Amino acid sequence: MSLAETVPMLFVRIVSALFGYTNYVVIGIFVWTIWLDHTQPKRQRIRYGRSILPRLGSIRSFDSEPEFQFVDGLETNLYVYEAILEGDLVTIISIKELDVKIKDLSCLLWYSSQQDSIAFVVNASVRDLHEHHGMKYTAAYVQCALKKRYAYLKGWPLLVGLTGNKSMAFRPKVMLPIQDGGMKSFYQDAASRAHAAEKRVVEFTVCIPPIYGDYSNTAQLVEKLEMSRLLGARRVVLYNNSIAPSVNSVLQMYIGEGKMGLEKLQVVVHPWKLPAVSENGTIRVIQSEKDIHYFGQLAAINHCLHRYRWLSRYIVFTDLDEFIIPRQHDSWSQLIGYRQKRSPNIAAFLFRSTVFAKNLPTPAKGFELKAFEYGSAVFWYTQRDKYIFPALQRSKLIVDPRRVEEIGIHNVWIGSGTTDDVPPTQGMVYHYRMPLRSGPRVLHVSDFTVTNKFGTQLARKLKAAWSKLQARASISKRLSLPIRT
Ligand SMILES: *[C@@H]1O[C@H](CO)[C@@H](O)[C@H](O)[C@H]1NC(C)=O
Ligand SMILES: *[C@@H]1O[C@H](CO)[C@@H](O)[C@H](O)[C@H]1NC(C)=O
Ligand SMILES: *[C@@H]1O[C@H](CO)[C@@H](O)[C@H](O)[C@H]1NC(C)=O
Ligand SMILES: *[C@@H]1O[C@H](CO)[C@@H](O)[C@H](O)[C@H]1NC(C)=O
Repeated sequence: MSLAETVPMLFVRIVSALFGYTNYVVIGIFVWTIWLDHTQPKRQRIRYGRSILPRLGSIRSFDSEPEFQFVDGLETNLYVYEAILEGDLVTIISIKELDVKIKDLSCLLWYSSQQDSIAFVVNASVRDLHEHHGMKYTAAYVQCALKKRYAYLKGWPLLVGLTGNKSMAFRPKVMLPIQDGGMKSFYQDAASRAHAAEKRVVEFTVCIPPIYGDYSNTAQLVEKLEMSRLLGARRVVLYNNSIAPSVNSVLQMYIGEGKMGLEKLQVVVHPWKLPAVSENGTIRVIQSEKDIHYFGQLAAINHCLHRYRWLSRYIVFTDLDEFIIPRQHDSWSQLIGYRQKRSPNIAAFLFRSTVFAKNLPTPAKGFELKAFEYGSAVFWYTQRDKYIFPALQRSKLIVDPRRVEEIGIHNVWIGSGTTDDVPPTQGMVYHYRMPLRSGPRVLHVSDFTVTNKFGTQLARKLKAAWSKLQARASISKRLSLPIRT
């Protein structure tokens, strides 16, 4: 033991002899913190709060699903979704009013859930994400910096509260359990890390933006999940704003199978109800495109980035109607490995986008029936626009999540490393949708890459998935006709 440790421990022994065992821990922590504070060079010293943990009944449990909560007592609207532990930071994914500065916000960090534990107080820093599309509300990060000596003292924080009140007698306005997100096991010793890796860390996680509008396209969803699996995904993360009962049943089946470890594909669905705002005495849910861009897409994808950062080697960001297709390799893993070898400092791989227009049904030979039976876009459409969008227009990303701090829809905003502009001959975003460009001058080319590489396997997977779904419930296949799939 060093002097810095023995002196306070001696003091604790004496004090605890005087005051009895009950206060031992509390006093010990106080004394130790003060002592360690003194032994630090005179940089910014952190205040230790007197705020005692509120009744645990008022705190959401650790395994409950996240949801947007209002942070009361500020002069602006701030909603917090989930707190995520990231080494020396706790990042809280939030939605707030654009450009409104939030000062004097403090984080209260609890390292124990015992009723008499004491919070450590640090200033919160709040910043808007870059991409907000000029709406009134934007995605934002609220961040609380952790000090190394706190980790040394008591492990990692378990709960974070937020308050705008500087008084020492404050109570937090909102309390969030802190999600580990795999970071702890990453920092543990190699043995337990290997164990954790085996269990939870996957090579590719796919993050899909919020699904909304009573979404009911089961054929598209099943194809998205099965194609992702074939390309190398072992986890798909979705955000549930509003889905039809048929889609709910499909998701429940995949979630159940993932939990049983049957199919090696973990499907995670996070609830994504947008927050309600109080305006002039009336309460209303904030609206997509009126108040916030595309159902809070930026908050959702950046949540996915942080939440699965330590549980994935790479994260793939695409919509339900898009696939990133390797054109010379057979999987994402091979393609990424190849690109990485050429240039090791890559934080993100950017894929350019091309459209397979859904007004041109041209089923692949041998797959005509399957196209019809499973409502499969991949089998129906094999003619794509000759035109390939340039980088940053409609492009999509595969990122190394540990090198990226903030992503946009088509680009990386903050990261350490380069963005690799993958040549379209090696990989592209195949976007199955109604035409974006039309007229006699739009040229098309046949492209059988997907059916040649994955057709047979995909047909088998779709068959298996649909027979399980039909055995489970009375979901009839939604056979979308070519003109409207
Ligand atoms: C915390 O914020 C207060 C003002 O809100 C400021 O005076 C203080 O220096 C900040 N502390 C740190 C450690 O940044
Ligand atoms: C801040 O704390 C003081 C002292 O406890 C209390 O009187 C006051 O009502 C609090 N303000 C808010 C906005 O919670
Ligand atoms: C999606 O949200 C609805 C409404 O909150 C809920 O009833 C349903 O169970 C959710 N589905 C999934 C798969 O999370
Ligand atoms: C709330 O009321 C004020 C004053 O009556 C008005 O200027 C403002 O536009 C109202 N806000 C909304 C969102 O209706």
